[in-house]
Amino acid sequence: MKRENINTEFLDGVLNGSHEDFYYHFGTSSSDPMLKPLREVRAVIMAGSGERINEFARTWSDLNGGSEIIAFPKEDRFVTRYTAGVLFASHGMGMPSASIAVQEMMRMVYFLKSGNLDAIDEVFWARVGTSGGVGHRAGTVVVSTEGVMPDLKPYRLMQGARGTYWFDGTFPAATREAILRANEGTGIPVVTGRTIATHEFFLEQFRLDGAIRLETAESKQEFLEWCHENDVANIEMEGAMLAAYLNWWGFASFAMICTVLLDRLEGDQVTSSPQQLHQFSADSGTVLFNYLSALLS
Ligand code: URA
Repeated sequence: MKRENINTEFLDGVLNGSHEDFYYHFGTSSSDPMLKPLREVRAVIMAGSGERINEFARTWSDLNGGSEIIAFPKEDRFVTRYTAGVLFASHGMGMPSASIAVQEMMRMVYFLKSGNLDAIDEVFWARVGTSGGVGHRAGTVVVSTEGVMPDLKPYRLMQGARGTYWFDGTFPAATREAILRANEGTGIPVVTGRTIATHEFFLEQFRLDGAIRLETAESKQEFLEWCHENDVANIEMEGAMLAAYLNWWGFASFAMICTVLLDRLEGDQVTSSPQQLHQFSADSGTVLFNYLSALLS
């Protein structure tokens, strides 16, 4: 872990009782007795949709002998469940929303582990989501090598008028390889590659079916072909920030596992049936749980 990159000035004050920490978007705080059992947390799993979080928590509980599921009461922003050592939380859509969830989750993990960096580093993080494939058909599961922005450069933030904060978007190779090993022989198509995260579903993903259209069929295809040539496997809306922040804090083990809903080289619209979409989501969950079962057994 990189202590110098963790806001210990604020977080250690929570530990020594100088102040409480309100995890406002999750509807809880460091003085909430509900958090006590969460001190055992060994993994934080995030997904865009609250429904998927609910389903993942139920599946993980079933895989762990029907372990108790603790449901956070506030659900108007993010849906959160804890069971059998895993904290499941939704993060909404896009990096502005997901960055709130990731920062508050990190504050919570720091508190739950009493600021012990070795214990914090043992926590595995993952986002399990959906994406548009680049040269991969619907149903393929991508385990990301690197999160980048649409110019294939890492995540960065404006430092007001003064400049830019740059981050490292790589996902740890050892974790990715362990996920692949845990999923050998399952029949689910799992590939690896770079993942683009955008701030916009239509324009920044070069879609032609938004209510605003800025690209031509040619410029869209040219962009997607360029992505394909540069080892981009899929496009979604959170991964570059997720890898950026987890690298910033110095975590050793984290991953992103995203199902492909369509091949963007072939089109723009998601036309899969609800049953197919459910299967895609279940498959990304299976890839995660095969790894989690090996990791946490
Ligand atoms: N999510 C995205 O961000 N893009 C897609 O094409 C599909 C899912």
